[in-house]
Amino acid sequence: MASTILVSLISIVLFCITVAQGRKTLHTTNEISASSLVTDDDICKSMVETQGYTCEEHKVTTEDGYILSLLRLSAGRSSEKANKPPVLIQHGLFCDAIIWLFNTPEESLGFILADSGFDVWLVNGRGTKYSTTHTSLSPTDTAYWNWSWDELANYDLPASVQYVYNHTGQKMHYVGHSQGTLMAFAALSQGNLVNMLRSTALLSPIAHMNLIPSKFTKLAADLFLADDAYWLGLREFLPNVDVGSKFLDGICKTLNLNCANLMSFFTGPNCCINASRIDIYLDHEPQPTSTKNLIHFSQMIRTGKIAKYDYVDQAQNVQHYGQRVPPTYDLTKIPNDFPLFLGYGGQDMLSDVQDVKVLLNDLQDHDANKLVAAFNQDYAHADFVMAVSAKQVVYDPMIAFFNAH
Ligand SMILES: *[C@@H]1O[C@H](CO)[C@@H](O)[C@H](O)[C@H]1NC(C)=O
Ligand SMILES: *[C@@H]1O[C@H](CO)[C@@H](O)[C@H](O)[C@H]1NC(C)=O
Ligand SMILES: *[C@@H]1O[C@H](CO)[C@@H](O)[C@H](O)[C@H]1NC(C)=O
Repeated sequence: MASTILVSLISIVLFCITVAQGRKTLHTTNEISASSLVTDDDICKSMVETQGYTCEEHKVTTEDGYILSLLRLSAGRSSEKANKPPVLIQHGLFCDAIIWLFNTPEESLGFILADSGFDVWLVNGRGTKYSTTHTSLSPTDTAYWNWSWDELANYDLPASVQYVYNHTGQKMHYVGHSQGTLMAFAALSQGNLVNMLRSTALLSPIAHMNLIPSKFTKLAADLFLADDAYWLGLREFLPNVDVGSKFLDGICKTLNLNCANLMSFFTGPNCCINASRIDIYLDHEPQPTSTKNLIHFSQMIRTGKIAKYDYVDQAQNVQHYGQRVPPTYDLTKIPNDFPLFLGYGGQDMLSDVQDVKVLLNDLQDHDANKLVAAFNQDYAHADFVMAVSAKQVVYDPMIAFFNAH
């Protein structure tokens, strides 16, 4: 029991949130189980309208058949309709749209943008609680989980952007956290979406990953790659139950780490998360992802490359890509005049400062007045989404950037 709870905690931190300060309180919370992820509550009713905001749910079908739920906050608490452009917000791994609404309206990005006059759209990624339907498949089918972030970048993101563009008739700003930044990098490097976006904000950018300092994360990646056939067979990964929980617990023991501090081994020590809200976070997260996606991330951690999923078997790569090694996403191809805002932190162990330097090197020819790199020494991975100070530290400068573009 204790270990399951521990692991449910570990899971939410991978690319999403961390709760290092409040772990002790978890021993009093209920175990998170898969069944708690399939209740039928409604984010609009339970988390948005109760705070005085207008909320709509929209359904978007991707080219490969996944039906995504998008939430729209088209007015702030003053009830005045948005008078600024749409902003599309994309969460990271093991999260969903709720992550942008967890804190108070003064602290949560979804509410802050609505109160600032923007037309806010929050995506729930494929496979997460509110986006489990598909035109022909069910999550119990093997094929439903046959995707990695390649598909998130090449199907989910274009479908969401195109939908908002069609629906509002306006170009939008984009905000991604963690995996949500990788999706944007991949799309923009292929010249996609540029015509529908005004600018992009990338919080805890994930691009090159091989300088990650965490032994824990590196061992997890090695184990995923060593046993890829086994992991692929499992299809769906939920870190807080069964195999996922044993796996993470085992790494902790192998490295002889003090599991009480496990969260900070992954994300770095988040400075500014409100520990008394952890129980609420655990009611909603973590959300599942595919094992193929985790193998794809593990490949990035090993190689430092931003490339399509490697089937390892050369014949399979040829079959999928027409070449023996997977094609890379070349970030130097992102149009130099496309406005980019990067937020990164000195304590972040997933979006490590050394890896961000390599990313900034890729962007060295970017127009200087179209690239803002906002660094905060104290912030770790989850602070960008969850910190009580994020408005002052990250969101206000980001909104100023949006207003200028
Ligand atoms: C997974 O999808 C790829 C195409 O992306 C396809 O070639 C492969 O056969 C699929 N595998 C399964 C098990 O559905
Ligand atoms: C957007 O509009 C175009 C043109 O009407 C249509 O072909 C496309 O399917 C629409 N896409 C979405 C995601 O709404
Ligand atoms: C932290 O959360 C608790 C419980 O929701 C709340 O009472 C408190 O005001 C919060 N503190 C800050 C700094 O947001």
